[in-house]
Amino acid sequence: KRVALGIDIGGTNTKFGVVNHRGEVLKKGSIRTDDYEHVEEFIDALYEKAHPFIEKFGGENSFDGIGVGAPDANYYTGTIDHAPNLPWKGVIRFSDLMTAKFKIPCTITNDANAAAYGEMLFGAARGMKDFIMITLGTGVGSGIVAGGKLIYGHDGFAGELGHTIVKPGGRKHWSTGSEGSLEAYASATGITITAKKMRAEFPESMLNQYPEDAINSKTVHECAVKGDPIAIEVFRYTGQKLGEALANFVMFSSPEAILLFGGVIKAGDFILKPAKLHMERNLFPLFRNKVKLVFSELEEADAAILGASALVWEK
Ligand code: BGC
Ligand code: NA
Repeated sequence: KRVALGIDIGGTNTKFGVVNHRGEVLKKGSIRTDDYEHVEEFIDALYEKAHPFIEKFGGENSFDGIGVGAPDANYYTGTIDHAPNLPWKGVIRFSDLMTAKFKIPCTITNDANAAAYGEMLFGAARGMKDFIMITLGTGVGSGIVAGGKLIYGHDGFAGELGHTIVKPGGRKHWSTGSEGSLEAYASATGITITAKKMRAEFPESMLNQYPEDAINSKTVHECAVKGDPIAIEVFRYTGQKLGEALANFVMFSSPEAILLFGGVIKAGDFILKPAKLHMERNLFPLFRNKVKLVFSELEEADAAILGASALVWEK
């Protein structure tokens, strides 16, 4: 009957839930991440919303811990370091701040690592020992599982595949300054940039019916569904960049499957088909037609909440 609090921090929203050992999310809530310029304010607001849940499930003593998945989080140090898509700058001692406020021990890891862990225990990756989770949202994240274990590397940051370069000398990342990263193309932010460029080039595109600030992966999807070739091309190009990157990742660790997860996968086959095509095309033959490319089975955000809670019990 013991539970954990799992928290998934995203660039825009933070979702949290009370989870039991069977992987059931018993109660869920959320707050906006980008409303809080300072991390202390964010933690105060989170506490205000989450504390009633803690009371409802028996108080602090019924909780084995708090598990957090966050961008640019470090499992070894409990910090969030220089996150490009969060409002808080510098190195933040997140798990210490959380433990002090909630009076429950807090463990933190990278958000995509947490999602990978959730899939491994409760979702599409059950029973898999080697797979890669790619999260496509405000940013692009990944969790690499090899030999049944998440890879943390020498310093705890391993698996930042969103920042690998898919087009040398390509699009400059709005925050890190790198040129041609996967995140610059395949994140929701990247899709928006591609869509704005494309609609400027093609006045006849349906994308021009929206004001500038309404262009995002959702509106591109609307236009693609209505058959706008330019919107379809935005996703095709995104899928191509993703597929080329996936080929590299496959050759790096030979996964059984790649799981895709996050808001961007709502575009479905518009992205998945070109991704698969360009992954296969760029694979060295002995890797071809073997790797499953699938969508997450868990409800959006649940994978990360579940994974973050599982982290508590693992430790
Ligand atoms: C961060 C990663 C994170 C990903 C998804 C990236 O910008 O660097 O740590 O996993 O976004 O949130
Ligand atoms: Na990661």
